[in-house]
Amino acid sequence: MIETEQLTKKDIKNSKLISSVLAGERRFGFLLGDCIEILKEIPDESIDCVITSPPYWQLREYDVKDEHQSVLIGYEDDPNDYVKNLVTVFSQVKRVLKPDGSLWLNLGDKFKNKNLMLMPARVAIAMQDDGWVLRGDIIWDQMKGTQSAQDRMRDVYEHVYHFVKTRKYFFDADAVKIKPQKNASLVNGSITSATGVTGKKYKEHIAASTVLSEQEKQNALNALDEILAKMKRGEIVDFRMTIRGAQRSYHSESTKISGRAKELETKGYFFLMMKSSGFMPADVWRIVPEDKWRKDAHCAVFPEELLQTPINGTSRPGGIVLDPFSGTGSTVCAALKLGRRGIGIDLSKSYLDISETRIKEAFNGTYKLLL
Ligand SMILES: C[S@@+](CC[C@H](N)C(=O)[O-])C[C@H]1O[C@@H](n2cnc3c(N)ncnc32)[C@H](O)[C@@H]1O
Repeated sequence: MIETEQLTKKDIKNSKLISSVLAGERRFGFLLGDCIEILKEIPDESIDCVITSPPYWQLREYDVKDEHQSVLIGYEDDPNDYVKNLVTVFSQVKRVLKPDGSLWLNLGDKFKNKNLMLMPARVAIAMQDDGWVLRGDIIWDQMKGTQSAQDRMRDVYEHVYHFVKTRKYFFDADAVKIKPQKNASLVNGSITSATGVTGKKYKEHIAASTVLSEQEKQNALNALDEILAKMKRGEIVDFRMTIRGAQRSYHSESTKISGRAKELETKGYFFLMMKSSGFMPADVWRIVPEDKWRKDAHCAVFPEELLQTPINGTSRPGGIVLDPFSGTGSTVCAALKLGRRGIGIDLSKSYLDISETRIKEAFNGTYKLLL
């Protein structure tokens, strides 16, 4: 085990460490102990963003089990006790979170006597009952490999819930939008989209249509010209046009269900466009949970990619990101890499030691600047 300067210095009390991170004198701090107790030492409304993954109900072994049996979450016999314990922890989290802050909570499920317990949903509903506003339920598709069950589907996903305290919260959409790789450009005097669409084929389809009326053809050509003008002005980088009778709509044909089908029926065409400002990520994230620190730890380690959107989207540069079940320090490390400050809490001294080593390695030459 690595003895780190920070963890062995008895004179640095938790509160001192917390206040120096809050004051910006240090960039990060790890606190050893039961998060429900340590959270009480963090001042009200001082944290910008919390990202965490508590132990799942009756799922994993941690190296702290015997030592801290009484406070270790996840070992409760009754699922309701697990839910209650988590709600208690997160009510402290709510207190320390700024009014416009966000909590991202990763949870996995569990089969008991072949019965899927819906533990993430139970926790999420209890959190709502405790006053949290649920803004999103992200499905983290972990693309797991084969497993033994032969009488049900392979379970490959976990949940990442996005909770906020109030309806008005900080969200930097621009920082998380998926930006187009390429812009539209002028080729031989005519505008060409990022994927080479010029609109010429669509014009031919419209002219040749036996399904559209003359008026509909004219309207479709005008709309197409407007889209090409938007591309020339740099407002969009790409588009696709669907014309009644020319292509099969891949959306539902029912106008009751699909807005696109309705547009096809009423106008004779519709467009799909990619704006130059990009688009918001969807709520299914395909991220393999690979991480080299997983080898040293027995716990489920966050992949860095999973942390980037929550940190970039819901904390300001320089803000403070907290993980009350910090494990190997993934959240704090990612927060530092993205120019935020970080606080991690864990019951396990060896996990916190791994966390320190991890940050030392990640910041190699510049580690001292974080202290
Ligand atoms: C799923 S792991 C977190 C892994 C972490 N996301 C990472 O990337 O390494 C859950 C962690 O919660 C810690 N833990 C369990 N009960 C705790 C408590 N009452 N207070 C603080 N930490 C606790 C365990 O030691 C374990 O490291």
